[in-house]
Amino acid sequence: MTRIDILTVVPRLLDGPFADSIVQRGVDKGHVEIHVHNIRDWSTDKHKKVDDVPFGGSAGMVMTIQPIADAIAELKAQRDYAEIIYLTPDGERLSQPLVNQLSIAGNLILLAGHYKGVDQRVRDHFITREISIGDYVLSGGELAAAVLTDAIVRLIPGVIGDEMSALTDSFQDGLLAPPVYTRPAVYGEWEVPEVLRSGDHAKVRAWEEEQALARTQARRPDLLEE
Ligand code: 6GU
Repeated sequence: MTRIDILTVVPRLLDGPFADSIVQRGVDKGHVEIHVHNIRDWSTDKHKKVDDVPFGGSAGMVMTIQPIADAIAELKAQRDYAEIIYLTPDGERLSQPLVNQLSIAGNLILLAGHYKGVDQRVRDHFITREISIGDYVLSGGELAAAVLTDAIVRLIPGVIGDEMSALTDSFQDGLLAPPVYTRPAVYGEWEVPEVLRSGDHAKVRAWEEEQALARTQARRPDLLEE
């Protein structure tokens, strides 16, 4: 079973996102284990400090190496980890291929940065991969860790059913998803496209493919260049 351990100084930020989600369903069904840890629990400082002023005198605070190093050492002594990931805006941009890869990699440690980030020595000596969820700045890595966890967990076999098959997601085939409709077939003067009600599965698939391509061309032509 895949296990994801998240290290943070603000564990409560991760209560909400997982409580009522597909992620929780994956946990409940026994397909994945998610453990959120407070880095402060490993601090040997008498005030349980986890940050300090930066050398060089710039503004803000930096997360110290000791509690993070001890937390990682304790986890690694208990099991193997495929990757130790630091969530940071200067990391590699998250993409569906990267999510796919991580969903089959094995156990993961996710380190959420806060303040001005972590001491560079943590990144140099413990972190195997650095990931950003996009070109904008969040106040901490926790929400990014929640995004990454959600994207990974929903791909683990058995977590989501056929009715939401992950294989038909936008991006999974390099295209955006086609439009979808449900009942009623006619709402005022707005009708569901005839082809979707025709019962001709081959025609429906062809229409969906054409719509996916047209939508990708219109909204994300960059995806077609890859
Ligand atoms: Cl991983 N962290 C923060 N703080 N901001 C971000 C991010 C991560 N990804 C995009 N913005």
